[in-house]
Amino acid sequence: MKLITNINEMRQFSSDAKKAGKSIVFVPTMGCLHEGHASLLKKGRKLGDILVMSIFVNPIQFGPKEDYALYPRDLKKDLALAEVNKVDVVFNPLAEEMYPDNFQAAIEVEKLNNHLCSISRPGHFKGVATVVAKLFNIVKPDIALFGEKDYQQLVIIRRMVRDLNMDVKVIPAPIVREKDGIAMSSRNIRLGIEDRQTALLISKSLKRAKKLFDEKERRSNMLISEVKSILSSDTRLRTEYVQIVDKDSLKDVSLITGSAVLAVAAWVGEVRLIDNIKLYI
Ligand code: PAF
Repeated sequence: MKLITNINEMRQFSSDAKKAGKSIVFVPTMGCLHEGHASLLKKGRKLGDILVMSIFVNPIQFGPKEDYALYPRDLKKDLALAEVNKVDVVFNPLAEEMYPDNFQAAIEVEKLNNHLCSISRPGHFKGVATVVAKLFNIVKPDIALFGEKDYQQLVIIRRMVRDLNMDVKVIPAPIVREKDGIAMSSRNIRLGIEDRQTALLISKSLKRAKKLFDEKERRSNMLISEVKSILSSDTRLRTEYVQIVDKDSLKDVSLITGSAVLAVAAWVGEVRLIDNIKLYI
């Protein structure tokens, strides 16, 4: 496995691979890898010749009051997990090289940026789209994988790729859950034992809503109020939003007649967690 920290070296590696007729599969990450990332790598490994994973905690997708400094980092552990999952190249650039002085460009996917997490994290997806576009330009992947846990991110990246005619196929991968149901997230390690019990309410409430949906409840307000009542059973949990949205436009849906996603964001202490479940007819 090769570790590349320099942008030009990564570009050269990818150009050479392409010239040699190899396909490149890419898994962008912010490190602190867990089984959710491993599932993306396992899936990606089968889809092409060269598997590249980036590890880059992207400063421009964190707001001024957010957890950029606290975001967990463990390069040694990440490299070991990358090796086990047969990654060919780990790209780990420096923030100063990604964003030199006077960096000004940005990509914004406008309407999709008016929903869900964007309300409380206004510049977040602009930062995500910009870094992913940069990474695509550097790594030149044929295929890129994104997890469905960050559902809005997936929809925004897909739209960016379509609208800007980027030559990369975006492939989603399902949410990976821990045994107790909690969605895998790098932020979970910041939860104490008691916090974890509280956080569990999120996946429990989604499961309950899915059960009601499977029993033919199609009214969003009924499903949402069920989720909210489960979440409010523990005062340690602060709900940010519970919404049922169209799977592509991310607009609120009042009666589910097609494919929708029930998405939740909630805080346990200082840790912000998101999760979602598909409600597809
Ligand atoms: O999902 C993430 O880890 C990040 O948002 C991404 C896609 C690597 C961009 O920084």
